[in-house]
Amino acid sequence: MQQLSVRLESVFELVRESRTSLGRGRVIDIGSDHGFLSVRCLEEGVSDHAVCTDIHEAPAQKSRSSLIMAGFKDKCTVKVTDGMDGIELQPNDIVVTAGMGGLNIIDIFTRITDNTEDKILKDCGFVVQSQKSTHLVRRFFAKNGYRIADETVCKDRGFFYNVMRLEYTGSPYELSVRQSYYGPCLLTKEDELTKEYFAHLDEIFAVRARGDEDIRKMLEE
Ligand SMILES: C[S@@+](CC[C@H](N)C(=O)[O-])C[C@H]1O[C@@H](n2cnc3c(N)ncnc32)[C@H](O)[C@@H]1O
Repeated sequence: MQQLSVRLESVFELVRESRTSLGRGRVIDIGSDHGFLSVRCLEEGVSDHAVCTDIHEAPAQKSRSSLIMAGFKDKCTVKVTDGMDGIELQPNDIVVTAGMGGLNIIDIFTRITDNTEDKILKDCGFVVQSQKSTHLVRRFFAKNGYRIADETVCKDRGFFYNVMRLEYTGSPYELSVRQSYYGPCLLTKEDELTKEYFAHLDEIFAVRARGDEDIRKMLEE
């Protein structure tokens, strides 16, 4: 079984969760690098076929090697491209972007949303783990009609990461400032790790509030 880091294991768990409400289908791993997530999805039957994309040839080659070594030569497609450019979304696809910056993720999903019919988007799942600018990522998805169906937090080698599972509804909505920074789903959770994560965010925002009016207002609410 392909071993994953704590962070990627959390991503995998939400991909698995996403599959429970969809039929059999592909996993499209954008920015796949080593391709480990796709290998694990194929091993566990969470996807029938893995599509890996990477903007650079060297990581795409790593994905290709991992998938071939794991015996999935006939169940994978690896493409060097920006985001999902040149790949058409199909019903039951699960699109994953993990380990990338928030602005890059927003750019990738702007094109996916613009280039795909609503009825196809509604039949797909989306799992996103951004390294930074996560509040902007949440606002983008709200504004573009993606519901945050679940969100989890994990701690990997001393760093917190959060992972979102999204569904496209086509109905835009607004998030409060607090929801965009802390996550509407995470705000409903009461487990110890989420509490620890929020205490960590509280400390960061207490400092940032000095120069950021948005954050100052949120802390005063
Ligand atoms: C830090 S790695 C993350 C790899 C893996 N997804 C993970 O979470 O462990 C980011 C990868 O995304 C690729 N990448 C960055 N921007 C991209 C884009 N716009 N489209 C496709 N791949 C991209 C990089 O080349 C790199 O291999």
